[in-house]
Amino acid sequence: MPARTGPLILYVDDERGNRVVFEQSLNAEFNLLTAQNAAEALELLGRHEVAVVVSDIRMPSMTGEELLRIVKERHPQTIRMVVTAYADVEPILRAINEGLVARYIIKPWIRTELVQVLRWAIEAWTFSRDSAALHRRLLETERLATLGSIAGMLVHDLKQPLMSLLVNVEHLRELANAAPLLRDALLQAPIPPAQRARLIELIDDLDPVTSDLRTSGNHLSELISGLRELGRPRDPRTQASATDPLPIVRHAMAVCQELAIPARASIGYEGPGELPRVRMPATELTQVLINVVANGAQAVAARGMPHGKVSIVARSEADMLELQIRDDGVGMAPEVLSRVGTPFFTTRADGTGLGLAQFLRLIGTVGGRFRIESERGIGTTVTIILPTAA
Ligand SMILES: Nc1ncnc2c1ncn2[C@@H]1O[C@H](COP(=O)(O)OP(=O)(O)OP(=O)(O)O)[C@@H](O)[C@H]1O
Ligand SMILES: [Mg+2]
Repeated sequence: MPARTGPLILYVDDERGNRVVFEQSLNAEFNLLTAQNAAEALELLGRHEVAVVVSDIRMPSMTGEELLRIVKERHPQTIRMVVTAYADVEPILRAINEGLVARYIIKPWIRTELVQVLRWAIEAWTFSRDSAALHRRLLETERLATLGSIAGMLVHDLKQPLMSLLVNVEHLRELANAAPLLRDALLQAPIPPAQRARLIELIDDLDPVTSDLRTSGNHLSELISGLRELGRPRDPRTQASATDPLPIVRHAMAVCQELAIPARASIGYEGPGELPRVRMPATELTQVLINVVANGAQAVAARGMPHGKVSIVARSEADMLELQIRDDGVGMAPEVLSRVGTPFFTTRADGTGLGLAQFLRLIGTVGGRFRIESERGIGTTVTIILPTAA
């Protein structure tokens, strides 16, 4: 076990005596690991983030040179050094020329010299690690800025078709309002009964379909205005609107049906027929629920078993509302679960990996809480706890 914290140094030597001396003389200052052969070293490198590898050159089974070649390939950030009891220059020169090692140490080494070399190695490693992280952050910022400007263009381009959609929905609304008349007319029309029954079915769908379309259209319209507002700080008080969650739960279920039907899965609501209003704007609650319910439906579809289920379970208590979205889909492995919510993290071929990132942001903005529990092959439960309006 390493005695200290800080960047790790791994010392590889087949002679036990050398390892003991190395450890005893350096563990007051450095965080050390030792290995007695290349295989053990590679195993440790796989489990720990190692800053510096110091390897003996002559070892049975795999030489230091071969080991460092693998380390260079698998862990290119690691600073590599060799130590040798013989002043055999040839393998050392080869290792340096190949870029396998940064420094070499001749045994028997002098503690003060070795300490200096190791301090240098740790500094070099820390610097390159930080600049790599900085580089990654810059790239990510650049990517987000690019996405931001694309979003700006999209907002502009989306407005036109959206207007047309909203106007046509109103038109459809008129048609839906005329459904009873159409129905009566059909009942008297001289057409085959099967055809009449089918037409009546379609006419009966007009009202709910139009309502759904109108809700989706308005949602889209608010999302687009929201995109325009992006980046402008918002007054949290304007967000404290009281929203009735039940129509939004129903709307999210209707929107996600499309994903569930091909998987022969069902989406259901379990809870009281009335829920307290929550302190979250309707558009944002809609986004939150659609993201989570869609993930559930996709997980059920990915599992491919018929009769899968996504349930939205509601429970209110004192000054909060708990919504649980449970699915018996594929579930998540711990390493996936630990990364969800990171922007652009996705395991789905057609995913963008923004659903849960947005979910976390929106829940956080209104002072809500959440929990995600998941087990591979069993399913996932997402719990959302929202403050209710007084
Ligand atoms: N209910 C769930 N069951 C299983 N895996 C899930 C579930 N919810 C999320 N995940 C995992 O988390 C990842 C990230 O989810 P997220 O919603 O953020 O992005 P996405 O669904 O991949 O893409 P999109 O941006 O279209 O939502 C998914 O790719 C999936 O691996
Ligand atoms: Mg998603």
